[in-house]
Amino acid sequence: MNMTTIQKKICLLGDFGVGKTSLVQRFVEGRFDDKYLSTVGVKISRKTLKRTYGEMNMLVWDVSGSNGFESSGTTYMQGAAGALIVCDLTRRETLIAFENYARQVRTINPGIQLAFVCNKADLTHTRDISDIDLLTVLSGLGEKNFFLTSAKTGEQVEDAFSHLADILEGG
Ligand code: GTP
Repeated sequence: MNMTTIQKKICLLGDFGVGKTSLVQRFVEGRFDDKYLSTVGVKISRKTLKRTYGEMNMLVWDVSGSNGFESSGTTYMQGAAGALIVCDLTRRETLIAFENYARQVRTINPGIQLAFVCNKADLTHTRDISDIDLLTVLSGLGEKNFFLTSAKTGEQVEDAFSHLADILEGG
């Protein structure tokens, strides 16, 4: 059988504490941590996905909220094929960074593929962003798909990353 391995860099973008590191940890290591340790510098993890043609090595880049465009500047985004834009469903203000990141990243890297992720879906009682709010922001960005994820329970986490893998392949 002919096996092909391709490599793709993807970046996590979103405000402080929305759960970027937790989503990567759930996806790559299958675990969740309650502690909040703000990411220092850039952390790169690798996950190999089985694809019909062979394998995709996803190199997942994670930085602390807002540093995506500040301390590391555009180098963080350089060579990225895709990005997960993340907000926190329990904090309405994280939608502003969510929208800004999507716009800025497309300016820096117009060919980039984006997946929109609304995290902490397990915290239903403190949810502060409705589906309508999300659809309004997304339609302003010319998008309609989003994932309601929980890094804690694992809900929709694989789906969000595999959706990104699919669109990276033009699927
Ligand atoms: P920065 O590196 O500072 O930008 O933060 P981050 O976006 O990487 O967030 P992080 O993954 O560190 O998560 C922040 C806090 O939210 C931690 O205490 C996590 O345990 C918690 N958290 C992350 N995802 C979830 C989730 O889906 N559900 C719940 N209940 N808590 C979560």
